[in-house]
This record gives sequence, structure tokens and C-alpha cells, in this order.
Amino acid sequence: MAHTSTTTINRPGDVDPHARFGPRGYPLLPGGYGRSTYYTGRPSPYAVRGEGHKIWDDRGRELIDANNNFTVLIHGNADPEITEAAISTLRNGASWGIPNEPEWELAELLLRRLPALDQVRFTNSGTEAVMSAIRIARGATAREKVIVTKGGYHGTSEVALVAGGESASRGLTKGVIDDVAPVPLNDIQALKSAVEAAPRDYAAIILDLLPNRAGLLSISQEFVNTARDLATKYGIVLIIDEVISIRLGYGGISGEYGVEPDLLTTGKLIGGGFPVGAVVGKAELMAEVDPTRPGSLPHGGTFSGNPVSMAAGAVALRRFDGAEVRRLNELGDRTREAVNDRVTDAGWEVRGRGSLLRAVPAGALKVGESTQHALWWASYDRGLLGSPANLLSLSTSMDDAVANDIADRLASAVLEVAARDDATTTKGDTK
Ligand SMILES: Cc1ncc(COP(=O)(O)O)c(C=O)c1O
Repeated sequence: MAHTSTTTINRPGDVDPHARFGPRGYPLLPGGYGRSTYYTGRPSPYAVRGEGHKIWDDRGRELIDANNNFTVLIHGNADPEITEAAISTLRNGASWGIPNEPEWELAELLLRRLPALDQVRFTNSGTEAVMSAIRIARGATAREKVIVTKGGYHGTSEVALVAGGESASRGLTKGVIDDVAPVPLNDIQALKSAVEAAPRDYAAIILDLLPNRAGLLSISQEFVNTARDLATKYGIVLIIDEVISIRLGYGGISGEYGVEPDLLTTGKLIGGGFPVGAVVGKAELMAEVDPTRPGSLPHGGTFSGNPVSMAAGAVALRRFDGAEVRRLNELGDRTREAVNDRVTDAGWEVRGRGSLLRAVPAGALKVGESTQHALWWASYDRGLLGSPANLLSLSTSMDDAVANDIADRLASAVLEVAARDDATTTKGDTK
């Protein structure tokens, strides 16, 4: 088959000091990376060890870890209590083919925080949780179509990828793409028009209330209320994707908005650093995967609800109580303010909410990859580790002194990048 992509492919002979090569001379991992989301434009350092808010790499650098494995490590690296829970659970076996006690415990902890919802199904990732929630919604409504907001990210299941636009949709069938209606963020009229054009076609509306990849701009209260009202009126399932945003409130960001989802998907921090995802939902909907009901939908996952993820997650969630959620959100607010004080004149801003931060050129909704990577490296050079798309997250292992340090390093990195004349941004373009 002809290869039409213009992407550079690492071939035998390409020199990357960090890549290891297979017998035919190719890097063992495509492009030299185990996850495409690691990519920073140049060979990346490798993690060697982490402790609390610090991480050390193979180049001998000590970094403040504000990546936290893409927001997973809510209590920082190698938290002693979580590590102990994981190890003591592991001593009895890594996973079993029958239910386990920690699964109940984590389900109970989650539901205590989400009192409007009744039941939980664990998965191995946020991707799987979203994929399962969509199938539950389709099963319950006997409808196929799904509404998403443009530019959002809900993992890499097929329906979810459509939100990312044309480039993210390569490899999907036309049928999958046609089943998804992407609506511009916060465009209430577009949402209403999409639903009302064919209200009985839609199984679900999926919302991330603070979509990172769409610029880390909050969804407006009115947009959320409209989605809730339309969903209720037309029997559409409202799925709120809290894979990241669960950290922003004791009952997730939906609790802060006062909106009740029918299904809530989550993951990341609720596994204490181990693979996890969860669909939390109303009993009437979760009945779709109740195996005691004839004709229920298949839901498995060999590692779903494995005791190590569950036990580690239970410690992580118990320790992230209302007071810690508040403390971390306030720390985030102060950090944002401190950086903004220093970068506004250079035409940049730090966006986000609570413990999630992202530096962008002021008003930009999309930031060119080269600018993102430039900021990643400028931060790295100052001993600050963010995500390649510049999402920073705080962990409870951080205090005011660390947050000030993050603010100093980030502001300095932003000023360096802002001074470049090729900082590529697309202003006003989320549509
Ligand atoms: C909002 C949202 N949904 C789903 C996912 C997918 O989660 P995972 O990477 O665990 O598959 C992510 C991952 O970043 C996310 O941010």
C-alpha cells in the first residue's frame, strides 16, 4: 500500500542516542517512543526515579514533576502509603479471575463523592471507560449517534477520536465518523440545532467541562445546563468525562457545576498511579452491563478492577479529601496568578482551573506543536517537567514553596519562548 504520510519515520541509520534498535535496525518503539503523547520534538529524557514532587532522569537532571504522568499522580511520585498498599496487595497476587475486596472499597469511595450516581464498573483506562459508557448509552437508548465538543479529547476509542478532527480521525470508518456530531465549544445554538435536527437519533452527549486539548477553557454553565436540559427532554444520555477533571472538586468538576450526569467517566488519579478507568452511573443505565440480566452488554477486561490498582486507588482517593482538593485548587490559583503577573506583558497567559494549568499565548485556542515543544524544553532546561502540550498539574506533595518555584521556572520559560519570533499560534480557532 502506498504510504502517503509526510511524517518523518526513523529508519535504520537515524541516530538517536536514546533509541534502542531491533535486528533490522529500526527503533524498537515507533519513532523511538512508547506513547505518541511523550513526543517533544527531540529525543526525550527517560525517567529513572521519582519521589514526591521530584523526578530524576537519565541525563542526571532533577526536575519538579508537574507532569505527574499526565495528571495521574495526585500525591506525587512513590507516595509511601500508596506504595505500601500496592505492595502488600501484590504479595497476595497481582490479579485474579474472581472479584476482590479492594474493588468494592474503591467503588464505595467513588460513589460517596458522587451521590447522584449508583454504580461503578472499572476499566483499565479512561479510553475504555469512555468507550464503555458510549456503548451503555447506545444499549439503553437503542440509538447510535453521539454529540461531542470539537477539539475535545476522550481517549483513543473510535468514536472518541472523531472529536479531535480530521487528523485524529484517520483510520476510522466513514460509519464511525458519521455517527458523531462535533459541536463547537460553548456554542449553545449549535448544540440545540444539532440535537433538535434529529433528537431521537442521539444516544449520548459527551462533555469534558475543562477540555485540555481544546485550550483548557471552561465550558460555560449555560452550555452545560443546555446539554443537561436537552438530554433530559429527549432521553439522551449525558456523559460527563472526568478522567482528568475529577481532581477539581470533591465530587469532580460536575459537582462544582451542580450538574448531574447520567454516566460519568473517570480514571487517572483514582488508580493511585496504576492503570484504571471507571464508568459511574445511574442504576437504570448501568443495568446494561449487569450480567444477571438476560441480554446484557458484554463488559470484561482481564485487568479491570485488578486489586493492585484498586487498593492503590483507594488510598489515593481517601487521602484526596475535600480539604486537600481545596488546598490544591487554591495553590493552583496562586501559581496561575504569580505566572500571569510576569508573562502578561509578553502576550502570554496561564489558563486553567484549580490544580490544572496551561501557559498559552494570550487568546490562543490552538498552539502550534513547535511552540508547545519549545516551551516544554525551556521548562525542562529550568528543571520543570510538564506535558508536551504544556499541561501542568499540581500534586498534594507540593506546598507554597514548591508552587512558587514552579511559577518562577514557568514564567522564565514562557518569557524565553515568547521572545522567539516563530511562536506559532492560531487565535480564535476552536471551530
Ligand atoms: C478527558 C479525557 N478522557 C479520556 C482520556 C483517556 O484516558 P486514558 O489515557 O487513561 O486512556 C483522557 C486522557 O488524557 C482524558 O483527558
